[in-house]
Amino acid sequence: MLERRAGAPANPEYRPMTPLISSRTATLGGAATVPGDKSISHRALILGALAVGETTISGLLEGEDVLRTADAMAALGAEVRRDGGLRDGGLWHVHGVGIGGLTEPERVIDVGNSGTGARLIAGVLATHGFMSILTGDASLVRRPMARVTGPLARMGADFVTRSGDRLPMAIRGTDRAVPIVYRSPVPSAQVKSAILLAGLNTPGRTAVIEDQPTRDHSERMLRHFGVEVAIERHEDGEMIAVTGQPELSGRPLQVPGDVSSAAFAIVAALIRPGSDVTLTGIGINPRRTGLIETLRDMGGQIDVINGREACGEPVADLHIRGSALRGVTVPPERAPSMIDEYPVLAVAASCADGPTRMLGIGELRVKESDRIALMAEGLAACGAAVEADAETMTVTGPGRPPAGGATVRTALDHRIAMSFLVLGTATEEPVTVDDGAPIDTSFPGFADVMNGLGANIAPGQP
Ligand code: S3P
Repeated sequence: MLERRAGAPANPEYRPMTPLISSRTATLGGAATVPGDKSISHRALILGALAVGETTISGLLEGEDVLRTADAMAALGAEVRRDGGLRDGGLWHVHGVGIGGLTEPERVIDVGNSGTGARLIAGVLATHGFMSILTGDASLVRRPMARVTGPLARMGADFVTRSGDRLPMAIRGTDRAVPIVYRSPVPSAQVKSAILLAGLNTPGRTAVIEDQPTRDHSERMLRHFGVEVAIERHEDGEMIAVTGQPELSGRPLQVPGDVSSAAFAIVAALIRPGSDVTLTGIGINPRRTGLIETLRDMGGQIDVINGREACGEPVADLHIRGSALRGVTVPPERAPSMIDEYPVLAVAASCADGPTRMLGIGELRVKESDRIALMAEGLAACGAAVEADAETMTVTGPGRPPAGGATVRTALDHRIAMSFLVLGTATEEPVTVDDGAPIDTSFPGFADVMNGLGANIAPGQP
């Protein structure tokens, strides 16, 4: 059984807030690694649980979101264990039960802060013929689930949700699932993955049509586990299909560093002139690197070096130098490849010269928080010029960092917290975030990694 980290989970609503303060630093320098990719880590545990035999996972992200998925897989009958204590780089072992082999959990499954955990696990449970209940923290229970319950109900599962299709929700999965061909109205890898995972225990061919490509970690990992994934051109984009009831065989997996976590160190290095930082072993899947492309368009000096591959995913080292940035327009079709990076891009934009227009980013309103609203609020409090509407945000920088000097509201959103701590490395006055604890959901050790590069992040005043 999974051993738990000592102490409370990251986001119990009753815990006191833990503010963090970030003060200006001269330059950032040196080499660092970042924790494993969150998306790939969830999928490694889930597919490991559905495989036959042992899957070993090195580099797993040991953040709260992923630990909840590990707990969930254990609660559903897989054996999940880890060598050594948490966060010392140890190896995880998952003994899977085979497709369709999970068993009814005795308790409610609480996935904490994780939309990926909730939606991917809902996909798995939809085609297992038993009853389960999924819930999450105060942020997750506000997020929409209809995007997965709709198509999964068409496959034969029954859902009872709270009003507005929100968690907690009860799932009565089916063991007589029917395959569907589904075109998602939102470009979402979580939706695509939920349906493909449900399709694993569905006879026949289950397919998803995407008009905008989203991250393809599920497809790559399924192939790595020996499953045939058909990817075909379609008049509306691309069709991704799995044929049900394949046998996945357990195998070793290596999780690359998370480019979405690397993003914080990348921007921090770019906005401090004279910085010179190398980040090693970062996943550079082309469907995840929209931020690197955008920052380069802005004049950011980022070199991708030592390209290699790990378990079907491209990996490289990134060399970043402090740069004078200029505003750009980020086209809407780039959004899926940098969807989690807009908050930190907005920080870079607030230091750049001229307006940065971020178009087609309405999905940010239903992430761990309404990220457009929180970034606009926090940046304005720090003295930056921001305009936002339902689908866009424009940040206009004067070619130097804004003043800072504010305490920023983060609403249980790890990436909002980290983004403003990055801003504080460059502003004249320090920036405080009201609550740094949620950072553990995706980037345990964030302050240590950043301070190791020269940042100055410390506990703040409650
Ligand atoms: C994820 C997909 C994205 C992303 C999330 C992780 C995944 O969400 O924001 O952090 O692992 O599939 P959407 O697919 O809903 O855009």
